[in-house]
Amino acid sequence: MAREIGRVGVVGLGTMGAGITEVLARNGLSVVAVDVDDEGIARGRGHLEHSTSRAVAKSKMDEPAREKLLGSVSYTTTLADLADCDLVIEAIPEQLELKARVFNELDGIVGPDTILASNTSSLSVTEIGVHTGRPGKIVGMHFFNPAPVLKLVEVVRTVVTEQDVVDDVVAFAQRLGKEPVVIGDRAGFIANALLFGYLNHAVAMYESRYATREDLDAAMRFGCGYPMGPLALLDLIGLDTAYEILETMYAQSRNRLHAPSPMLKQMITAGLLGRKSGRGFYTYD
Ligand code: CAA
Repeated sequence: MAREIGRVGVVGLGTMGAGITEVLARNGLSVVAVDVDDEGIARGRGHLEHSTSRAVAKSKMDEPAREKLLGSVSYTTTLADLADCDLVIEAIPEQLELKARVFNELDGIVGPDTILASNTSSLSVTEIGVHTGRPGKIVGMHFFNPAPVLKLVEVVRTVVTEQDVVDDVVAFAQRLGKEPVVIGDRAGFIANALLFGYLNHAVAMYESRYATREDLDAAMRFGCGYPMGPLALLDLIGLDTAYEILETMYAQSRNRLHAPSPMLKQMITAGLLGRKSGRGFYTYD
């Protein structure tokens, strides 16, 4: 019988964790949101307050509904507060040791049937979950940025993920109004494996002065119907995140398409991380 998923934990309230929290709360779930410190909590809470006040301003939500939604999320800096969650989604920085440590800790906190999901975009879900006592209940649940808008969720099954866990996570993603796809534990899964070769190529073209950044982006927007050009999209993703994803995929595939363009590294070193730092390929207010 399918699991009842009513209470969900989110660990890490960066861009993705905050966006995932918003998706869950908008779908009537009770959410326990965790970050390491008060600053992280304030960022997550601020994200949800800002996004829902925008929805009220656009008359897409009324004030009582907003209050109810905000009240359905509790914030904490203590992982132990996730004890009665049916599902926990981890969205902390892309460092394998850090993720493995959090999963190991979560394993000792939540009930035996609870599913532990990682929003990792390129690390191995198998390696993240292997040090827990429940490798069969570990999956990837990879959302796309901005999570409240984009419908794809990649459900990543490892060789030991139990079938009913995959089925329940797929059904849960559908309940959130998402379009789940199921994929094995391969670097980049489906979307990033296809997308990042293209993004990396765009950086190389820009670096070799093939065309201006505006023209490179305009070509893909107006010629191919993409909502954003590749350089603007890299700014949205974050150049540091993009670099990490490319490096992981290159290490696994040795496909030259995924060898990060040198310019990416230089921009990151100079602090140009994209929207989050105010400047990347473009400058933001
Ligand atoms: N959070 C919540 N809602 C947001 C949002 C955010 N961060 N950004 C935009 N929205 C909402 C807006 O409120 C608006 O909602 P309504 O229609 O209800 O009013 C809607 O999205 C459209 O936004 P805008 O009108 O401001 O702007 P737009 O139409 O230009 O769309 C966009 C903006 C959604 C970002 C769109 O340009 C887009 O889809 N771009 C491509 C993004 C993409 O490819 N993401 C994948 C990155 S790869 C990844 O995430 C994987 C990984 O592992 C790195």
